[in-house]
Amino acid sequence: KNIVVLISGNGSNLQAILDGCNNGIIRDAKVAAVLSNKADAYGLERARLAGVDGIHLDAKQFADRETFDKAMIKEIDAYQPDLIILAGFMRILSGDFVRHYQGKMLNIHPSLLPKYPGLNTHQRALDAGDKEHGTSVHFVTEELDGGPVVLQAKVPIFADDNADDIFARVQEQEHRIYPLVSQWFIAGHLKMVNGKAELDSQT
Ligand code: GRF
Repeated sequence: KNIVVLISGNGSNLQAILDGCNNGIIRDAKVAAVLSNKADAYGLERARLAGVDGIHLDAKQFADRETFDKAMIKEIDAYQPDLIILAGFMRILSGDFVRHYQGKMLNIHPSLLPKYPGLNTHQRALDAGDKEHGTSVHFVTEELDGGPVVLQAKVPIFADDNADDIFARVQEQEHRIYPLVSQWFIAGHLKMVNGKAELDSQT
């Protein structure tokens, strides 16, 4: 099976997926390509080091979101993907793009959804005085960070934490759960049915 990963930055979650394909957490699948909307994303370097095709598309070269997203579809579909993984891809996706990959696109969001969709989740959790925080893997639907949640991991927030402490604690969990959920999907144990995430009994 083929996985295509979309990134905009560091790509530590991409790395967890690449590692998962090598260490047996993810079986019968490979990362076929990595697409970034940022030329200097370190994730593209991770792809290169792993011998995986890296693609850069610059949104500034396209007239509008729809045209850019069409160009992404063309690049991605050349790899006949079974699963699209959003891993720190910092662009809003058009309805057409999301519908094209409906039921086979996952995202990881650094909050315990439905809490804190959008940006700056760690600071928002701190400001709210939350005692716990975390991360969610969910199917992507047209509602931003609103698709059905598959798996969450919780982390504590301690009194002397700053946003960087929480970021690091959350990322550790992301690197653990994203490969797991990806394997469930690849193995056919996880599906989106009628807008809900369904896991079969083997999982
Ligand atoms: C992750 O924390 C993820 O939750 C969010 O963006 C971050 C990406 O980090 N969507 P990285 O590029 O995978 O290191």
